[in-house]
Amino acid sequence: MQAQLQAILEESKKALEAATTVAETEETRIKVLGKKGSLTGILKSMGQLSPEERKELGQAANQVRAEIEALLAETVNHLKEKEKEARFAAEAIDVTEPGKEYKLGVKHPLTITMEEVSKVFKSMGFSLTEGPEVETVFNNFDALNAGPYHPSRDMTDTFYINEDVILRTQTSPVQVRTLLRQQPPIRVFAPGRVFRCDTPDATHSPMFHQVEGLVVDEGITMADLKGVLDSFAKQMFGSETRTKFRPHHFPFTEPSAEMDVSCFKCGGKGCRVCKGSGWIEILGCGMVHPNVLKVGGIDTEKYTGFAFGLGVERVAMLKYGIDDIRLFYENDMRFIEQFK
Ligand code: DAH
Repeated sequence: MQAQLQAILEESKKALEAATTVAETEETRIKVLGKKGSLTGILKSMGQLSPEERKELGQAANQVRAEIEALLAETVNHLKEKEKEARFAAEAIDVTEPGKEYKLGVKHPLTITMEEVSKVFKSMGFSLTEGPEVETVFNNFDALNAGPYHPSRDMTDTFYINEDVILRTQTSPVQVRTLLRQQPPIRVFAPGRVFRCDTPDATHSPMFHQVEGLVVDEGITMADLKGVLDSFAKQMFGSETRTKFRPHHFPFTEPSAEMDVSCFKCGGKGCRVCKGSGWIEILGCGMVHPNVLKVGGIDTEKYTGFAFGLGVERVAMLKYGIDDIRLFYENDMRFIEQFK
């Protein structure tokens, strides 16, 4: 019987060593320790032995059982761990998972408007230029003929970084940069952000967008200004559009004007968009002041020019019927997606 016990122990050890699944260890357990198991059989048959033999063999059998049980537990633990590892590894890339949906972005209404404006001016032979948003006081005011006491320099309108540096309040300083860099003929447009110290409300924002334009050449007159801007309005708002120039004042142009377009909503009859007047103001313009041309060292006897500055938000709001400027900057997709 001792030999039998040893054989059972050896066999169990082998079987458990060879086991690769928890189910296989369970088979061994049933074969050895189950109701009809080999070791169980020996323990049952011990009733027929003499008390001395029973004591001796009983101890040996119990020891074997304890050893097999311990080995079983260890093997099961080990295999469970391995099975878990294998499962995790297999699940790491789950090829049955549905693909991620990437939503296609849309252009912002201001981008759409600026691209439309750019397209028109490019088609008329203007080239695109740009200037920095952080600008010198000189380029933003002095060089644009805004005297030292011009109201636009006031701290309440301008974000000052220091005495000489500001966030540009208009795209007009790009005119100065162009004039300092380039000799006539000049025909450029410059879209960009501008900043003013305004409290946000439905029609004001401390940051908004303008498109600046500048033409300098021999023999440029107010007729060129009117022709170009009238053509722009017709291309931008439809061929039926009419334009009207009202006298105005800007320090950097003389004479200066504001241009109105006939209302693209009602065609001039009067409606909510044009506040009943039939006209909508969209830009400031004028003949470049000789003092501005002189900053660029341009011969003012030989050359003249015109300039304009257009408010992008204003055009987009009127075109799309948007009644609050703040909607442009909130990045609410429900708003932005309407202008695809
Ligand atoms: N810079 C002006 C503004 O911000 C707009 C403007 C008016 C620009 C007339 C021009 C111009 O170039 O000629 O209100």
